[in-house]
Amino acid sequence: MTTTTTGERSPQPEPSRVRVGIAGATGYAGQELVRLLARHPRLALTIATASQATSTPRRLPALARVWDGEVRPLDVPALTAEADAVFLALPEAASAELAPQLLARGLRVVDLSGAFRLRDLGARARWYPATGAMPDGVAYGLTEFALEAIHDARLLSNPGCYPTASLLALLPLSRAGLLAADTDIVIDAKSGISGAGKAPSDRTHFCENHGSVAAYAAFGHRHTPEMEQALQRPVTFVPHLVPLDRGLLASVYARLVPGTTAAQVSDAFDRAYASAPFVRLAGDALPEIKHVAHTNFCDLGWKVDEAGARVFVVSVLDNLVKGAAGQAVQNFNVMCGFDETAGLLWA
Ligand SMILES: NC(=O)c1ccc[n+]([C@@H]2O[C@H](COP(=O)([O-])OP(=O)(O)OC[C@H]3O[C@@H](n4cnc5c(N)ncnc54)[C@H](OP(=O)(O)O)[C@@H]3O)[C@@H](O)[C@H]2O)c1
Repeated sequence: MTTTTTGERSPQPEPSRVRVGIAGATGYAGQELVRLLARHPRLALTIATASQATSTPRRLPALARVWDGEVRPLDVPALTAEADAVFLALPEAASAELAPQLLARGLRVVDLSGAFRLRDLGARARWYPATGAMPDGVAYGLTEFALEAIHDARLLSNPGCYPTASLLALLPLSRAGLLAADTDIVIDAKSGISGAGKAPSDRTHFCENHGSVAAYAAFGHRHTPEMEQALQRPVTFVPHLVPLDRGLLASVYARLVPGTTAAQVSDAFDRAYASAPFVRLAGDALPEIKHVAHTNFCDLGWKVDEAGARVFVVSVLDNLVKGAAGQAVQNFNVMCGFDETAGLLWA
């Protein structure tokens, strides 16, 4: 503790803690970051900012006594001076502008937007046109499949919520060589409304969504190229909005190499996640959103039709935690060499 000129005692971070800041702390993912970072045993949340240099400073009522700081106007020099690393929970155009500035000042950056997810220049120009050249030291942070790259990253690009759920379901099968080539993979996914961020729209308005389910962006969602980049093959991805505040369920349908057994599928999942603290395997007890809401877990369940060489996988996670803020903290733990679960197991 130090004493200010007014005689108030203000808490100072312990020297051993890494100082972190958040830009976009007033958004849904940003507030989830505040909740996680404020109680992290190895980090000190020193600064949180909103969108504009002219934004009015404000407190976050839902997080009182979890974090009693004030969300300040956006201020790059203050972020640079007060943090060693910054989490960006911003629209992608804002991330594309801010991340290079922070990197140039020597900070590490964890970006929750899609601005730096796509390696291919043409794909980036189509889906994330605000992103110019990719900075050096970018890693795509699907934690379970990129530990080494994440550890060495300067800019961690956190995966999208739908790709996290879908890739955790598909990559073990793809890497084990169990998916039939040249067949369609169908990802039918449902997300709670917080996945769309806090700005209301016709689609996310309570009266439109309550009591209904709607498909959207079929063949045109920007998470499709992200999944195809990781899988190196096309997918048919159709997302749906469901009247939940949070949570995501992906139903994944794929063709197996003929002759593949249910035991081989189980073995592929067991081997992929033997030491993954946040992936829980439910086998043929198919998991539900309620099992993972407010946690950093992704639960996977599956059924195999051996005769028809088909597999059906259900993947559930909380879009704001494992699909955003929780995975970002998990990735930052890896970047810092901390235990992967630090600050997350109680979440
Ligand atoms: N929601 C999810 O489930 C989810 C999952 C994975 C990834 N993401 C990604 O995470 C990022 C944040 O998503 P969100 O759902 O938390 O969004 P959100 O609820 O709409 O919040 C956006 C945040 O960004 C700030 N902001 C808006 N425009 C800005 C600008 N031009 N410059 C600087 N700051 C600006 C807002 O500040 P004010 O309050 O001052 O307007 C707010 O703090 C997005 O890139 C999103 O794609 C979200």
